[in-house]
Amino acid sequence: MTTGLEATKHITRIVPADSAGIAEAARVLAEGGLVAFPTETVYGLGADATDANAVARLYEAKERPTFNPLIAHLASADAAKKIGRLNGTALRLAGKFWPGPLTLVVPALPRCPVCDLARAGLDTVALRVPAHPVAHPLLEAVGKPVVAPSANRSGHVSPTTADHVLTDLRDRIDVVLDGGPTPFGLESTILDCTDEEPRMLRPGTIPRGTIEELLGAPVADSAPIADEAPIAPGQLPSHYATRAKLRLDADRVEPHEALLAFGPSLPPGAERTAYVLNLSPNGDLLEAAANLFAHLRALDATDVHSIAVAPIPVTGLGEAIRDRLLRAAAPKP
Ligand code: TXA
Ligand code: MG
Repeated sequence: MTTGLEATKHITRIVPADSAGIAEAARVLAEGGLVAFPTETVYGLGADATDANAVARLYEAKERPTFNPLIAHLASADAAKKIGRLNGTALRLAGKFWPGPLTLVVPALPRCPVCDLARAGLDTVALRVPAHPVAHPLLEAVGKPVVAPSANRSGHVSPTTADHVLTDLRDRIDVVLDGGPTPFGLESTILDCTDEEPRMLRPGTIPRGTIEELLGAPVADSAPIADEAPIAPGQLPSHYATRAKLRLDADRVEPHEALLAFGPSLPPGAERTAYVLNLSPNGDLLEAAANLFAHLRALDATDVHSIAVAPIPVTGLGEAIRDRLLRAAAPKP
């Protein structure tokens, strides 16, 4: 059995952020690689938001204990509008502060290209259009949404130089695009814009007062999100859970159950069910993480009442996979 850690043993290349370096970084991102790059706030660790395998590698490189949702970075507001639904308030905020250090959480459009894993299975998506002279042309060259959490290991502070990135992530990622220290050094302000009255999810580079001035109204706090902290189960919308009952650590499949398998051997009873999806036939946790939300959704779309879930090892990414399975299996509100 592999843990997937092998897959991230790379020599990290430090590339100057000139036009050749930006083109190289865009190519690595498009091929599913991990690239740290400067934004006006902090260095982000970028991955192709549409590629669940790349996103799984990103969580692993950061050692994020859970699949915290990630911010999708775009080259323009027009590109952002193809991913999420911006209401009137969101459009005003975007018109004033994009490109810039503001992140808007909005409802994801149907067939949102940002993969389920990057959105942690939520119906919303966090969007940001950076103004930085390296981040902007990089995103333009990639031509796809790029997720980019701060380029630090989980639990460490955000990096504002290429050196900080290397201290945390050397040989876990493919490229660091060195564009010097980041101008703001503090993360973007995150506003929940799922309804017309925006709420503050994370105070950041754009002060609350500046936002209130534009909107002509006070901005209330949402439940605070601690960076790197797992989402409290209570914060997870009920739609995250599956309709069908999840039976974890199943060592056999009962009649009329579907099977979410893991690894090469299937439990007894598997031959009786029409619905079998394998998170990773080779027992690779990286692949399993990339498949998790999509497979859960697919099995839940069948007519079964119960899904037997094979045991998942708790090493490496297995802990986060298990965390999400436990949440999905929790009694529905
Ligand atoms: O300045 C920044 O925003 C930097 C640069 C690299 O762009 N990025 C950054 O990402 O700080 P990160 O992953 O460290 O923090 C993103 C925060 C997380 O706390 C996450 O929970 C929240 O955004 N978030 C992302 N999507 C969300 C969603 N759909 N609903 C609520 N919160 C969300
Ligand atoms: Mg962070």
